[in-house]
Amino acid sequence: MSLGKSRLDRFIAMHCQISRRDVRLMLAQGQVLVDGVIARDIDEIITSFSNIVIDGQIVQANTPHYIMLHKPIGVVSATKDEQHKTVIDLLDYTFKAQLHIVGRLDLNTSGLLLLTNDSRWSEQLTQPMNKVTKRYVVTLENKLTDDYIDAFANGMYFEYEDITTKPAKLTIISEYQAEVELIEGRYHQIKRMFGRFRNPVMALHRSAIGKLQLDNELAVGLSRQLTDNEVSNINN
Ligand code: URA
Repeated sequence: MSLGKSRLDRFIAMHCQISRRDVRLMLAQGQVLVDGVIARDIDEIITSFSNIVIDGQIVQANTPHYIMLHKPIGVVSATKDEQHKTVIDLLDYTFKAQLHIVGRLDLNTSGLLLLTNDSRWSEQLTQPMNKVTKRYVVTLENKLTDDYIDAFANGMYFEYEDITTKPAKLTIISEYQAEVELIEGRYHQIKRMFGRFRNPVMALHRSAIGKLQLDNELAVGLSRQLTDNEVSNINN
């Protein structure tokens, strides 16, 4: 859902199927409340999250929702799919149809996936200029060497998109495992970066986005709503 800003008079005219003149009358008579306050100004800008009451009836009560899901392998990061179960199928919230995914994971990647109906929040998390880190634990087929650290930090040129990847931090955890921090999300980025070393990725798991870590109490396939604190403090 987009944050959808619009003018109050346009919204009411459309919603009630009345003329703008009649809207002015309604406002003058104090029949409209925006976020609990009597609205008088036809130019008032509302968003899709403004609470609008007309003549005592709630006509828009959209509240933002923020969900953390522990995505399993084999479930697709999409809202609809002909072949596979989708991440939406795993959710059990009445508002789940309103949600969109904040930064997809591949079919065979597990871990932290965020869903929301607040597009301003999701844009802020996905725009590379905001440098919100996405942290992954990667298991590889072949042994790692220190050469990987510099190659990831220097960026790699992807001819197909004609881009060089932004500096990424690689930390070697063990012979076959590394932690990788990205600030962008290119198509199959991690697999393609290890592909440069002809080192296939055997398992990929996202453990954190910004300051938000995947809740380790959350079993694979389960989800929960974020706390207000998590929503506001996710940026690095
Ligand atoms: N990089 C990948 O290759 N796949 C993902 O799912 C995420 C990052």
